[in-house]
Amino acid sequence: MKKLLMSFFLSTILCLFFIADNANAGRVARSSSGNNFNVLSFGAKADGRTDNTKAFLDAWRAACGAAGSVKLIVPPGTYFLGPVRFIGPCKNVKTLTMQMQGTLKASTDLKRYPSDVWVQFGWLDGLILTGGGTFDGQGALAWPFNKCPKQKKCKLLPINIKFVNTKNTVVNGITSVNSKFFHIALLHCHNFQGRNIKIIAPANSPNTDGIHIERNSGVSITQSNIGTGDDCISIGQGNSDVTLQGIKCGPGHGISVGSLGRYKNEGDVRNLVVKDCTIRGTDNGVRIKTWENSPSVSSVANMTFENIVMDRVANPIIIDQTYCPFAKCDTSVPSRVRISDITFRNIRGTSTSPVAVLLDCSKGVPCKNIRMHDVHLNYVGGLAGVQTTSTCQNVRAAYSGKQVPKPCH
Ligand SMILES: *[C@@H]1O[C@H](CO)[C@@H](O)[C@H](O)[C@H]1NC(C)=O
Repeated sequence: MKKLLMSFFLSTILCLFFIADNANAGRVARSSSGNNFNVLSFGAKADGRTDNTKAFLDAWRAACGAAGSVKLIVPPGTYFLGPVRFIGPCKNVKTLTMQMQGTLKASTDLKRYPSDVWVQFGWLDGLILTGGGTFDGQGALAWPFNKCPKQKKCKLLPINIKFVNTKNTVVNGITSVNSKFFHIALLHCHNFQGRNIKIIAPANSPNTDGIHIERNSGVSITQSNIGTGDDCISIGQGNSDVTLQGIKCGPGHGISVGSLGRYKNEGDVRNLVVKDCTIRGTDNGVRIKTWENSPSVSSVANMTFENIVMDRVANPIIIDQTYCPFAKCDTSVPSRVRISDITFRNIRGTSTSPVAVLLDCSKGVPCKNIRMHDVHLNYVGGLAGVQTTSTCQNVRAAYSGKQVPKPCH
C-alpha cells in the first residue's frame, strides 16, 4: 500500500512537471529559459513606441552573466531603443548569439546620446549577431545637423552599430538603414567576419559610410550590399589582413582606403584584398586617399584589387595623395603616407569621367611598385568622341595585359 501510494505520488509529480513543461513550450516565443534570454520577458514591447532601453540592457546583463552557449532573442516586431552599450567581458560565455529578427528603431533626440554611438558591442569574445533583423537609425532628422563634410571642427553624430575591442565576431544577415553617421564601425577588433550585410541610406545623406574600420586585424566582409551617401567601406588607419569579397556597392563614394595621414601616430595599413565586387553609380570605384601636411609618417602596403566591375563610376581607379574635402587644406608639405605594392587586376566596366585611372602620388614619397594588369574602362560620360585616359604623378606603374585607358607613359 505504501509502495502504491508512493508510486502514485511520484507519477502525479512527474505529470505536473510534464504539464508545466508543455505550458512553457507554448510560451517559448516570449519566455526566457535555460540559456535563452528573450527581451520580451525582460519587459520589452515591440510596439515601436515604448522605450526599450532598460529591458534590452537587463536582458543583455542576464545573457552575459550566463555560461556556455547563450542566446539573446529579439523576436519580430519594432522596438524603440535609446543608446545602449552591450559590454563584456562575459566571463563564462563561450558564444553569445544575438538572434535578432526584429527592427530596432533609434531615438531621434540627439540630446539622449552621451557619445557618438547608438548600439555598441564591446570587450567581447565570441559574439554572433544574426537573425535578419534591422537597425534603423532614423537619421533623416539628424542629417541637417551634421557639419562634418564642410568644417574641420564638428560634432560627430551617433554611429548605428559600433564594435570595440571584440575578438572572434560573426555578423551574418543584418540590415542597417539610415544611420545618423556611419552605419557600422569596427575599432580594435580581431578576427571579425561580416556576411550578408545590407546597408541602405540615400545617396545625399552625409557621412553615412557603410562600414568604417580602424585598427583591426583579420577582418572579412563578404556577400554584402551597401548603398549610402558616403564610402561603402572605408579602411582607416592601423588595419591589417582585411578581405572584402562579393560586395555590391552603390550609390555612394565607393571602396576607400583612407583617408589617411590626417592625425598624429596613425598606424600602417597592410595586407588588403578587395575582389569580386560590383561598384555601381558611385563617385569613386577603388580609392586610396591621403592628406597633405601629415603630422606623422605611415605606410600603405600590399593591396590587391581584383575582378571588379565598374558600372558608370566617376573615378574608377584613383590614388589621391592630395586629398582635401574642404574648401582649403594646408598643402605646404606633401603627404608623408608611403604607398607601395598595390595591384589592380581585371578591373573592367565604364567611367563617367574621362580620367578613368588617376594615380596622383606624393612628391615627397612617390608610390612604389604599382601594378596594373588587365584594365578595361570605357567612357560613358556623354561627350562625343571622348575616350578614357590615365593621369599619373610621382609614380611609374608597371603595366601588363590589356590596358584601356592607355598607360601614362
Ligand atoms: C600580402 O597580403 C596577402 C593577403 O592578405 C597575404 O596573404 C600575404 O602574406 C601578404 N604579403 C606580405 C609580404 O606580407
